[in-house]
Amino acid sequence: MKSFGQKPWVLPQPVLIIGTYNSNGTPNAMNAAWGGQWDAKEIMICMGSHATTENLDRCNEFTVAFATKNTMTASDFVGIVSAKNDPDKIRKTGWTAIQSENVNAPVFTDFPMTLECRILRKIDQTKNGYNIVAEIVNILVDENYLAEDGKPDVEKMQLITYEPVHYGYLVMGERAGNAFEDGRVLQ
Ligand SMILES: Cc1cc2nc3c(=O)[nH]c(=O)nc-3n(C[C@H](O)[C@H](O)[C@H](O)COP(=O)(O)O)c2cc1C
Repeated sequence: MKSFGQKPWVLPQPVLIIGTYNSNGTPNAMNAAWGGQWDAKEIMICMGSHATTENLDRCNEFTVAFATKNTMTASDFVGIVSAKNDPDKIRKTGWTAIQSENVNAPVFTDFPMTLECRILRKIDQTKNGYNIVAEIVNILVDENYLAEDGKPDVEKMQLITYEPVHYGYLVMGERAGNAFEDGRVLQ
């Protein structure tokens, strides 16, 4: 085994697109890989100091969309360009933003699945950012991405994960097995 020391290499990492409103009311989006499920109805995200952070200081609601192969280029773009420097940021993505019905934040309809969220706690707050714990108020799924049982068909979505070792995006592959079931053969 080769040792690599301390690296931000928890695998796999999500590509979360955080939607908020800027102070002038225009939608903004940023890319976040450092986040995940916190509790049954909660998520956590590590927030640095961004336009999005300022937006979340004014309004504690936001959306989280899961990036896909189709939205990959623009999802990377919103992770390298700040609304602080480019007021045209969202127009350049080509995404369509509509107002969420449950939180004061934009829903980008180009994504198959979006969480509508409200901040519960900000942890370890410094001038460089904080860790958010947020309630998942509701989940929206484009009806084109539903399975026959009416639930989200994740395999259809072509979700991407962030690969932090060589800075890549990988498309999620096919179903490998059944959770809480396949392991039973060894019971
Ligand atoms: C792959 C990737 C992952 C990122 N993950 C995070 C993250 O977890 N937390 C964070 O604060 N910023 C993260 N960023 C950086 C922000 O997305 C970036 O600074 C963005 O331009 C902020 O936009 P804003 O200033 O308009 O809010 C990531 C960027 C990329 C490309």
